[in-house]
Amino acid sequence: MARFLITSALPYINGIKHLGNLVGSQLPADLYARYQRGRGNEVMFICATDEHGTPAELAAAKAGKPVAEYCAELHEVQAGIARGFGLSFDHFGRSSSPQNRQLTQHFAGRLAEAGLIEDVVEKQMYSNADGRFLPDRYIEGTCPNCGYDRARGDQCENCTKQLDPTDLINPRSAISGSTDLEVRETKHLFLRQSAMRDQLTAWIDQKTDWPVLTTSIAKKWLNDGDGLQDRGITRDLDWGIPVRKGTEDWPGMEGKVFYVWFDAPIEYIAATAEWAEAQGLDASAWRRWWRTDEGADDVRYVQFMGKDNVPFHTLSFPATIMGSGEPWKLVDYIKSFNYLNYDGGQFSTTQGRGVFMDQALSILPADYWRWWLLSHAPESSDSEFTWENFQTSANKDLADVLGNFVSRITKFCRSKFGEVVPEGGHHGPAEDTLIAELTTRIRAYEANMDAMELRKSAAELRAIWVAGNEYLQSAAPWATFKTDPEQAAAQVRLGLNLIRLYAVLSRPFIPDAAAATMAAMGCDDWSWPEDVAGALAALAPGHAFTVPEVMFRKITDEEREDWQTRFAGVRT
Ligand code: 2FM
Ligand code: ZN
Repeated sequence: MARFLITSALPYINGIKHLGNLVGSQLPADLYARYQRGRGNEVMFICATDEHGTPAELAAAKAGKPVAEYCAELHEVQAGIARGFGLSFDHFGRSSSPQNRQLTQHFAGRLAEAGLIEDVVEKQMYSNADGRFLPDRYIEGTCPNCGYDRARGDQCENCTKQLDPTDLINPRSAISGSTDLEVRETKHLFLRQSAMRDQLTAWIDQKTDWPVLTTSIAKKWLNDGDGLQDRGITRDLDWGIPVRKGTEDWPGMEGKVFYVWFDAPIEYIAATAEWAEAQGLDASAWRRWWRTDEGADDVRYVQFMGKDNVPFHTLSFPATIMGSGEPWKLVDYIKSFNYLNYDGGQFSTTQGRGVFMDQALSILPADYWRWWLLSHAPESSDSEFTWENFQTSANKDLADVLGNFVSRITKFCRSKFGEVVPEGGHHGPAEDTLIAELTTRIRAYEANMDAMELRKSAAELRAIWVAGNEYLQSAAPWATFKTDPEQAAAQVRLGLNLIRLYAVLSRPFIPDAAAATMAAMGCDDWSWPEDVAGALAALAPGHAFTVPEVMFRKITDEEREDWQTRFAGVRT
């Protein structure tokens, strides 16, 4: 039994994610976790909410709540929606956990001992009215280039010019509107990534089997311009993990916190520690996933994320791990994704454009979304969600091909033989041909799933469903029954067994429908079809089943038009 550690990029706490976020990390990670479990492997599937940083503070302020309370609430909201989508995390943690605080401070202490942390004094805008330093994007003013009066300290949205806060005319706080700003000196810790450039380059160079999207981004940052930059890992904020060197105070850093991108990936480890505690297990239970000196050397660690997260996972987080000088597990494979666009534009959280996870579940069951998103994942390029494409794909693949197969065979059996697997008859050439085709296709499906090729896996699964339909069409038990009821019984028996096989194979994509059909077949045998002929004899003559409810109803044109209009605007 192999062991797989699987992490999905951590969703920011401030608000409900859209379908573009979902398909870029959590959903494909879930597909892979479910598949590996289905193959009988040991899986630890981890995700968490990413709770620190200015956006969390500001979202809480906007909601009129203390930030800790806001985060606790939004964590529950996100956890509930994740359950609704069938995301099968072993643990959905919180980056604000005590475990993450302890580990983040530990890593910072180790990096300091290794001489990889440097003090840098910077000049930053301080708002007297707000009593805090303001990050660049929380300073607004008039653009010196185009005169737009709501340009941000990092960039003018109107003319796209990159700015420094000091370039702005009449700068003011975006939080309070106050113009009582002054430039103050502040000291920060920098991680000397540049000192680890050779080590990181050598490591990335070994990863010849990684997706080009992943390695090209890593190499760009390693080699572009001046090469890998040192990076500030602290901030002047109230909300976050206090800067400490392990368990000791860090002189000169009082009142400061770690930068959200320093502590967020450490939460992958910390969330596994949270899991162990929640299970009442001791530390060795999580350390065997993460410490190569405590059993993790045979773990395969796979990360899933959108392309914007790649630099942090190929460079910054590995720099933290390597720089610690301790035997923590480094990632083995990074599956990254392009962007999903929405109906001719972009999904946008800030603009509320597109379909958000809660809205999606309010109109259709999770499996419809899972199937469309996974079979259209933005793997080799950006892809686009359109309501027409969604309707066509759901109606054809799920309703016409899979749903129809299940319904026809179970209803025919009920009418002629009752709700039990019929006995009599035996396999002929048509059945042998089908089993041979399925064997080839299932082995191809496994290869694509192992390689995390989502679109190819979905296409192969669909072809497996189609093969069953074509068999049924040409075997035509309703015709055979009139002349040779024994033969019809063998055909129907095979059909019923195909339904169980489809539940097993389809479960990573459409877990709820798979569970419902398996239950209707009166069975709980989820074993993977290593031997296809054997798997197709699992339901023996006399085994009772019930005709399942309609698996997938069709999406009507009226519904499609209605949703298209409802989700055309902006969510407020
Ligand atoms: O881009 C994002 O949504 C981040 N919250 C991802 C963090 S991934 C990890 F490193 F924690
Ligand atoms: Zn401008």
